[in-house]
Amino acid sequence: MNTTARAGRDPGGAPVYLDHAASSPLRPEALEAMLPWLAGQPANPAGSHRVARRAKAALEDAREQIAAVVGCRPDELVFTSGGTEAANLGVHAARDRGRLLCSAIEHAAVLEPCRALGGATVPVEPTGILDLAALAEALDSPGPPVALVAVMAVNNELGTVQPVPEVVAQVARAAPGALVLCDAVAALPWVELPELTQGCALVALSAHKVGGPPGIGALVVRRPAQLAPLLRGGSQERGRRPGTVPVALAVGMAAALQAAWEDRVAARARLAALRRRLVTGLVAEAGAVPTLGAAWDSAAVDLAHLRFPGVAAQELVVGLDVAGVCASVGAACASGAPEPSHVLTAIGLPETEARTGLRFSLGWTTSGAEVERALAVVPGVVRALRSKAPGDERIRDQGTRSRGPTLASAASTPAPRRSTPGGPSGRPGAVPGVGGTG
Ligand SMILES: Cc1ncc(COP(=O)(O)O)c(C=O)c1O
Repeated sequence: MNTTARAGRDPGGAPVYLDHAASSPLRPEALEAMLPWLAGQPANPAGSHRVARRAKAALEDAREQIAAVVGCRPDELVFTSGGTEAANLGVHAARDRGRLLCSAIEHAAVLEPCRALGGATVPVEPTGILDLAALAEALDSPGPPVALVAVMAVNNELGTVQPVPEVVAQVARAAPGALVLCDAVAALPWVELPELTQGCALVALSAHKVGGPPGIGALVVRRPAQLAPLLRGGSQERGRRPGTVPVALAVGMAAALQAAWEDRVAARARLAALRRRLVTGLVAEAGAVPTLGAAWDSAAVDLAHLRFPGVAAQELVVGLDVAGVCASVGAACASGAPEPSHVLTAIGLPETEARTGLRFSLGWTTSGAEVERALAVVPGVVRALRSKAPGDERIRDQGTRSRGPTLASAASTPAPRRSTPGGPSGRPGAVPGVGGTG
């Protein structure tokens, strides 16, 4: 291992983990809540004896706890196997009822079911925020009635907070029968979720982005939404989602959400400072360019999306991994040839620039020492890749033209050009297929 590689790890050899948006480590509160349910105690809440009743009571406590955090009634919360299933269930609630619209920067968990059901995308501004004028145009355009509008609360690559209440208001005006689905998987605890998603009929949640266990999520289902089950089976979750609900995972999810929510004010302040240090350091020392330009500071505090001109992000992520720093590119297609992230192309980044974008995501375990270790490692890896024999010529050409601005100039960097994923008019386009990571 070379010096750069050693620098990224702590003395115990743990890498610097800046990929919380993919999955955040399990919180101790969650582990403690789960252990009794993992340690040999049977836990099917559906039976009629005392053991089942104990499991049922724990499950309903967890449901109440989560409902209090996200601002819904307990009976509006349906447990699922994760955010993906919650989002799919949400989209399918509008199946065969009319047109489906979703923002062009939704996660694949929303985009893919929308695409499968013939939905259309609504473009976003270069700032990574939904284009509300384009949404109004789509809602008012002739055709079958709109049955569903999907808009995420926080984008999982850029951290941009979406104008969910404005979407709810527009839908109420122009398509009062339509459901608003909000994918809130990347939102907790970075935004005040109850207020942001108040008028949404459907809200998708996941535990493992918040320090809960992977493999569980939930969908908030408010009137008038009615679920069309994706699976056929038992009558669990009031007939809305069959299958034995995993009590251990449910109590772990509740404990994690509760802990994250109680700590949210302090966590936001702490991470804002750590992110500022990371971004300013990488702009100064590694020629990084904040992907959102001047707006990087107003994204959710856990996310820093940066471009490294002249470096293929796919190579950088591998180089950083070798050096002991975990980060991620937004999306990668299964064939191994990385596709640029659909989120980055939706905000108008040319493909060559989109291929240089990397996401660093912070979370509840991120420390100042980790950020300093990342700052000690990343610039060296970036320099090494920039000086390497050319791989992707288009990326390298672009790198020789632009070394990236200082933070001061980054603050005045104009946001990228407006995207027209739905065509030159900015009208909705068919939903493209996407790969994707968390
Ligand atoms: C915004 C968003 N929605 C949905 C999902 C899917 O969640 P899960 O991993 O729980 O299926 C993710 C996960 O990466 C996400 O970031």
